[in-house]
Amino acid sequence: MSRILMVSSEAAPYAKTGGLADVVGALPAALQQLGHEVAVLIPRYAGTVARSPRQVTDPFVVQLGPYAWRPSVYTTAEDSPFFFLDLPEFYARDGIYGDRRGDFGDNDLRFGMLSLAVFEFARRMFRPDIIHCHDWQAGLTPCYLKTWLTQEPTFYKTKSIETIHNLGYLGYFGRGSLERVGLPPWLFRTDLVEFYGGISLLKAGLVYADAITTVSPRYAQEIQTPEHGYGLDGLLRSRSQDLIGILNGVDYSTWNPETDTAIPANYSAADLSGKAVCKRELLREFGLEHAPLDRPLVGIVSRLAGQKGSDLILDAAPALFGEDLSMVVLGSGEPSFEQMFRQIRDAFPERVGLRLGYDDGLAHRIEAGSDMFLMPSRYEPCGLNQIYSLRYGTVPVVRATGGLDDTIDGETGFKFWEYSGYALLLAMQAALRAWNDRERWTRMMRTGMGRDFSWMASAVQYSTLYERLLNP
Ligand code: ADP
Ligand code: GLC
Repeated sequence: MSRILMVSSEAAPYAKTGGLADVVGALPAALQQLGHEVAVLIPRYAGTVARSPRQVTDPFVVQLGPYAWRPSVYTTAEDSPFFFLDLPEFYARDGIYGDRRGDFGDNDLRFGMLSLAVFEFARRMFRPDIIHCHDWQAGLTPCYLKTWLTQEPTFYKTKSIETIHNLGYLGYFGRGSLERVGLPPWLFRTDLVEFYGGISLLKAGLVYADAITTVSPRYAQEIQTPEHGYGLDGLLRSRSQDLIGILNGVDYSTWNPETDTAIPANYSAADLSGKAVCKRELLREFGLEHAPLDRPLVGIVSRLAGQKGSDLILDAAPALFGEDLSMVVLGSGEPSFEQMFRQIRDAFPERVGLRLGYDDGLAHRIEAGSDMFLMPSRYEPCGLNQIYSLRYGTVPVVRATGGLDDTIDGETGFKFWEYSGYALLLAMQAALRAWNDRERWTRMMRTGMGRDFSWMASAVQYSTLYERLLNP
């Protein structure tokens, strides 16, 4: 069994903007069950609330480019695998990546620091066999490892993995960042970290990691094409031997209608009666209590970003709301998409309930109280909400891309292929026809509820990869 050190910018419940946090929050426990020793290093943000936080290292020096910093590390309850890098100058801010004005201007330093400080953490607290890095925020770790640290006995045999949760976020910075994060000028090459005149921290990870993973088999193929490759498809094709797609799992201790404490009534595939209570309460929570209970309710929970296909909903809205349905939306993200949903709500106020912001409890109540869950993503590396929906008996209507295509089939949901409002409309109409056939609908709900996406299957695949890297 191996010692695995993860580096990430998010981990639930300590810091979350999306599915990355769910994955890094849950995968460690599954790996521990398989016998691995696991530690996870994430930054200690202003909003990171850990039970009885405990400082476990004295401040240590990290020289990042021209400046020296003195972070330290905290942890939470005994035996927790989660460790928090404390450096208030960088992390004690309200947002994780930015605030209302946009991304923070020093994200190269903030995540360069995380990627470098992990080695000091490793020396003091946890000697890893494998450093498992998540997304661009940890992309410099494999690069530091291979360019500076391989000569050091501590890291001589250490392998690294870069997991792509979302290729759309490249960690792109200007050329000057190279020096700011302490990398030598010779790395500024097209086949190394240079990217369109600047540098990409994700590319650094993809070039230097011993193996690359992404979060569904389908997305692993897609990112090797120009359409989904964000300019890195050539690099990914050249590393296709080292690239695999491992589907995310789901933490059913958090996402399970039988035990969920955030929903007004629990239910199961055997006894669905609580779901009707959840629907009634959800309609009330959104001020839609006048809607008849036999009218289907469509739920959306989403980061509002170009990736998520919100524009298709706007395109389809006039025809869509000509159908007999209501919709509740919870989203947070880019102001232009928030505006788009306000526009839809204002055009159909009797049909649409909208909450802009981040609300974990409400995300659970939408999964439980909706009849259908809509995810029209332009691209989707894995997607977790549609898998949560299956367990909650909420039938997904999805665009067949990435993990959405891998997790939903004709027995459990509805798919469309073309990226257009019209294709979305046709898929929704098919779902509405099925809704009217109560027997068929209940069968679909139950089939979805019976599907198993628990973490163990994915953890076994990661485990196999770790073993292969360590014993080639
Ligand atoms: P992504 O990581 O691209 O955002 P996923 O489907 O993998 O997509 O994961 C999204 C996660 O974030 C889910 O746990 C979902 O419930 C949560 N989420 C997204 N937006 C919100 C929001 N506005 N409020 C609460 N939870 C949200
Ligand atoms: C990313 C992707 C999402 C995936 C999540 C966790 O944010 O957009 O599809 O489920 O990471 O891997």
